Amino acid sequence: MSGVFCVAGDGKRLASASTSPDEPLMHERPHLTGGYSQGVSCWRIMTNRACGHLGVAACGSIELSLPMGSIMKNVSELIESRISANAFDTSRGLSDEQIEGLVRLATLAPSSFNAQNWKVIAVRTPEAKQRLKKVAYDQPKIADAAVTFIICGTLAAHKGLPEALLPSVEKGIIERSVFDTWVAMANGMYEGNEVFQRDEAIRSASLCAMTLMLAAQGQGLASGPMIGFDPAGVAREFQLSASEVPAMLIAVGYALPENWPQKPRKALKQVLTLV
Ligand SMILES: Cc1cc2nc3c(=O)[nH]c(=O)nc-3n(C[C@H](O)[C@H](O)[C@H](O)COP(=O)(O)O)c2cc1C
Repeated sequence: MSGVFCVAGDGKRLASASTSPDEPLMHERPHLTGGYSQGVSCWRIMTNRACGHLGVAACGSIELSLPMGSIMKNVSELIESRISANAFDTSRGLSDEQIEGLVRLATLAPSSFNAQNWKVIAVRTPEAKQRLKKVAYDQPKIADAAVTFIICGTLAAHKGLPEALLPSVEKGIIERSVFDTWVAMANGMYEGNEVFQRDEAIRSASLCAMTLMLAAQGQGLASGPMIGFDPAGVAREFQLSASEVPAMLIAVGYALPENWPQKPRKALKQVLTLV
């Protein structure tokens, strides 16, 4: 039997059994999956045995109303429940800490060679929102949402690769020889190939953007991706360098009830080929 337990009040025993609030959000243990989010613990308890072991009285699904930032759902639930929101509660903002938490999760997205060739601008002041709205076809959600992220992919990913990848060597995750090989491969692949560099910028930014949307969903927030903007205008207003390509805008905030439900998708047989 498995159950989801979000433990706020009596979570201390679970906490001491596994990890501390200073550790990253997600931890895996033989019987537990869970972690801390903004001081509240959230755990999936895998078996009755684990429940007994930890002194928890019952297993099953428990829905608790927890403070913002502490909601954790499984990935399927997040994907099933995500919609592109247009209507946001204009009265509810996000703290810089919450914004940083979302972007930190977004940067766990994969990128070619772990080049992390992205840059994120969080547009959250009324003045900055107006500047962005003006170059994004006046889309109301830019001003209405708590924050709109400009997700950029960066060109010449190979030039930033040594710096981005070195921590993986220093942490002993990859050998120096692997680092050297990857840097050489990336140079060979991207140097002088502007189309491929741009493809990679859009790919990386898109993966970052999708991860950000799911991270937002996991925090009880809604998101709205947008390509309806003038890239040159965005670059001018937000001082992007020539190598920073604005790939997508993502409005994030608290959804109002009047948003559309998720739209139907094509039949799987139109999309999937099994070979
Ligand atoms: C790359 C991309 C660009 C989009 N641009 C806009 C946009 O500029 N304005 C807008 O209102 N919605 C935009 N959308 C939202 C789509 O209309 C929405 O994802 C689609 O209708 C599916 O709806 P759902 O996400 O609610 O299932 C965009 C979505 C993506 C992925």
